[in-house]
Formats: sequence, structure tokens, C-alpha cells
Amino acid sequence: MSGPIEVTASGIELRRGGRTILDRVDLTAPAGQLTALVGPSGSGKTSLLTVLAALQAPDRGEVRYGGTPVTPHRRRDWTGRVQIAHQSFGLLSLLTAAENVELAAQGLPARRRPPRRRLRSAALDALDAVGLASRADHLIDDLSGGEQQRVALARAMVTGPDLLLADEPTAQLDAGNRERVSGLLLDLARAGVTVIVATHDGELRERCLPVFTLRDGALR
Ligand SMILES: Nc1ncnc2c1ncn2[C@@H]1O[C@H](COP(=O)(O)OP(=O)(O)O)[C@@H](O)[C@H]1O
Ligand SMILES: [Mg+2]
Repeated sequence: MSGPIEVTASGIELRRGGRTILDRVDLTAPAGQLTALVGPSGSGKTSLLTVLAALQAPDRGEVRYGGTPVTPHRRRDWTGRVQIAHQSFGLLSLLTAAENVELAAQGLPARRRPPRRRLRSAALDALDAVGLASRADHLIDDLSGGEQQRVALARAMVTGPDLLLADEPTAQLDAGNRERVSGLLLDLARAGVTVIVATHDGELRERCLPVFTLRDGALR
């Protein structure tokens, strides 16, 4: 199964440590569009992104992918089709960039996994798309923050997801690479991938539609 995924969130409430982190959030991220979550630091963007990725269950409300309710428990059904690039990257520092990307492809269910002989070239293609072909065999520890950020994006892309969520994907990049990554995310959306970003980057935001603004955990 594959194809564009429309993401809907309805009545999302998230409470942690006695505080309301997300307050009755309703939104639709249309299939094959680049959707932005914006708002000040601490407004709940990362929390909402992880709920939309079904990495944590809301206390109330529901997330649906193409009309099907999704929960952390049912997330396995979507392995490979739904990927998130975290703000903190989550890369394995003693492996190379290419090895990190290959691992993501290896983790796919058999029907979606590239054949073993294709794993490396799939990883190199994904690294090339983020401008890192020449860094493929460098250890993560030897890469800059911006390069690590792009490896994390390549790792999320290599599985050919139908839904890609990215937390501040351009935060550590210089102007040229911000432009490259923003363009890449827009190209993915145009190719039918539903892309949702949490971002502070005004230029990336300009390319997004729709844009949802959070303040104190609620949409404004
Ligand atoms: N697990 C948690 N426990 C307690 N507070 C949390 C937790 N996760 C997030 N928060 C709080 O929720 C608010 C929103 O955080 P976050 O979603 O990271 O915002 P943003 O990404 O917009 O900066 C912050 O005040 C943060 O401290
Ligand atoms: Mg955040």
C-alpha cells in the first residue's frame, strides 16, 4: 500500500507534568502539500509534530491518516510510509553518514526494503539529494551540525515515505543549504509526499501551504 496521505487531527489535547501542552488542536495537512507549524519557542510545535507522527498519544482527540485512526500502538502498520526527522537528529555517531541512512532502509518491512545490493546506492542517492554525496563516508561525529541535520533528512527520505515530518529542518543550515532543503521539501510535496514541518524559518514558511500558527498550545 502506498500513495498520498492526508493527515487530520481533531480535538487534540496533550497534558504533561500537570500542564496543558496542546489545547483542542484541529487541523488538516492535505496530501501532497507542504504544511507548516509555526509559532514562538515553547508554543507546542514539536509536541504537535510528535502527536501527528503518532509517536505519542494525545490525552484527547484523534489523528487520522487518510481517514484511518492512528495510534502509537498501530504505528507499525505505517513503517516506512511515515518518517520523522527529529530536531536532535538521533543519528548513530560512530557510523558514517551512509551507514546511518542505510540502516533506515534496512529497517523497512521486506516488501518495501531495497535489495541488499541496492542499499548503498539508495543511501547515496538520498545523501546526494541533500548535497552530502561527498560526505557519505564520514563519521557522524566528524560532520558539522548542519551536515548532521541533512543526514537526518536523507535518512527519513530514503524509505520513500508518503508522509514526512521534519522538526526545524533548516535550523542549523547556512543560507545556501536552507534554500536547498526548502526546495527539496517542496519538490517532495509536489511529487505527492505529504510534508509537515515545524519551523522558525521565514523563507521555508513562505513556501508552505497551509501554515498553522500555535500560541501556548492552541492554534491561532
Ligand atoms: N514531556 C513533557 N513534559 C513536560 N513539559 C513538556 C513535555 N514536552 C514538552 N513540554 C513543554 O511543552 C511546551 C511546548 O514544547 P514544544 O512542543 O517543544 O514547543 P516548541 O517546539 O514550539 O518550542 C514547552 O513549555 C515544553 O517545556
Ligand atoms: Mg520545537
